Amino acid sequence: MILIIDFGSQVTQLIARRLRDAGIYTEIMPSTSDSAPYLAKKPKGVILSGGPNSVTHSDTPRVPDAIWNNAPVLGICYGQQTMCEQLGGKVEAGTSREFGRARLEVITECLLFENLPYETDFDVWMSHGDHVAELPDGFEVVACSKGAPFAAIANSELGYYGVQFHPEVVQTVGGTQILKNFATLICGCENSWSMAAYKSQAISDIKEQVGLNGRVICGLSGGVDSSVAAILLHQAIGDRLTCVFVDHGLLRKGEAEEVVALFGSRYNIPLIHKDASKLFLSKLEGVSDPEQKRKIIGASFIDVFDEEAQKISGAAFLAQGTLYPDVIESISVAGGNNVTIKSHHNVGGLPEHMKLTLVEPLRMLFKDEVRQLGRELGLPEVLVGRHPFPGPGLAIRMPGSISEDKLDILRNADAVYLDAIRKAGLYDEIWQAFAVLLPVKTVGVMGDARSYEYVCGLRAVTSTDGMTADIYPFSSEFLAHVATRIINEVSGINRVVYDYTSKPPGTIEWE
Ligand code: XMP
Repeated sequence: MILIIDFGSQVTQLIARRLRDAGIYTEIMPSTSDSAPYLAKKPKGVILSGGPNSVTHSDTPRVPDAIWNNAPVLGICYGQQTMCEQLGGKVEAGTSREFGRARLEVITECLLFENLPYETDFDVWMSHGDHVAELPDGFEVVACSKGAPFAAIANSELGYYGVQFHPEVVQTVGGTQILKNFATLICGCENSWSMAAYKSQAISDIKEQVGLNGRVICGLSGGVDSSVAAILLHQAIGDRLTCVFVDHGLLRKGEAEEVVALFGSRYNIPLIHKDASKLFLSKLEGVSDPEQKRKIIGASFIDVFDEEAQKISGAAFLAQGTLYPDVIESISVAGGNNVTIKSHHNVGGLPEHMKLTLVEPLRMLFKDEVRQLGRELGLPEVLVGRHPFPGPGLAIRMPGSISEDKLDILRNADAVYLDAIRKAGLYDEIWQAFAVLLPVKTVGVMGDARSYEYVCGLRAVTSTDGMTADIYPFSSEFLAHVATRIINEVSGINRVVYDYTSKPPGTIEWE
């Protein structure tokens, strides 16, 4: 495996993505001054990520010295700079900043630049204020750009390489090949990592963790992550898995029935289906504040889940569909975003007093890798390809107070919208699409009569991770078609609007 040491760059995850896509297993760890966790991984190569700091300040992070002389190292941006500084070179602040596209000229042969689809110069993506001003002994310059005379450097004898540009972003043409060259030609990794291999490994890891008699509880939400986790566990330990599906009454149309049919009937997994919609609705009555809604739903969910889980005797483990971005976020040196925009309460969290050990078989996977694993496990495509859905469900797609009537209207509008998107063959191009019910009524005319009904907002975005998003550019014909369908087919709505806000400045959900 290749170990990536994270100095807090916004794009560190992309380094792992590119390499995994190329069949090379990678893991990310935050930068620390203790070398033990890194060395314990026995990596075949180490990549030092970029980061927001400047190595010209002495209190910024460095690599522990024990990293050197172990395996080849590739430093990217801040990673290159700290490599140079630590090995005896010099880094200077500021005079030749480069942000954005730059032309790289390769001036001498280097394994990093093998098998590229161009000869000696190509576009790369730069984002740096500081630059390397003096190389450590034993290094040579292998490529330069206008603003970075040391844009790529190498000490091929020791296996140390550094690039000022970012090979992990798509704007660097052939960037994946550069990373792959490091892993295969320089570190000797094989590009044989596949989802089939991951599945077998995950199943044997679950068997080992749970033992021969251990019992596991898994919270099902109807989403991709918990579904894939449940099927994987079922393949590993069979009936010693019990799924608990707490239906909070805030799901999309037909979703609760689908979960029960798929897991209970088709897969025959022991399933507790708790319809707690009345309880949730009564607790949410009169509540309009989005954070308040999230908190009520989160707390009630834990109570109900706990009560149901206690009925399962002898369970010592709780399975969760935690994904790699959550794992990285919670340990990142960057510490994530300090400002709470929304307290994303993930339904399925561990109630603190429950003395259960966590089983998290997806904690090393990105979202699209979970989808691949789902396919590998034979889950139906409609489930595997399903858009993400927030834990608090339709409650945060309904600004203002929640009622059963409004939920029905929203469910019906959402179902018509998604049906139109599927029929137009657009579902898989979109990251998330959903309807929102606004807390305002407007006047319309239907037949010859005056109508006074709710406004429905439509949202559709493209994204790779939900952190940023662009609006999906439907044709005006499609939008007009879907607006007509919603008004004709859903009673309670007489006006439809489309949300043209990207993220940022908007967020994907309306609350
Ligand atoms: P926002 O609205 O913050 O959403 O741009 C980003 C992604 O997170 C989902 N989301 C949530 N998921 N609990 C969740 O489990 C929440 O409270 C929550 N709020 C937003 C949202 O659907 C999108 O995929």
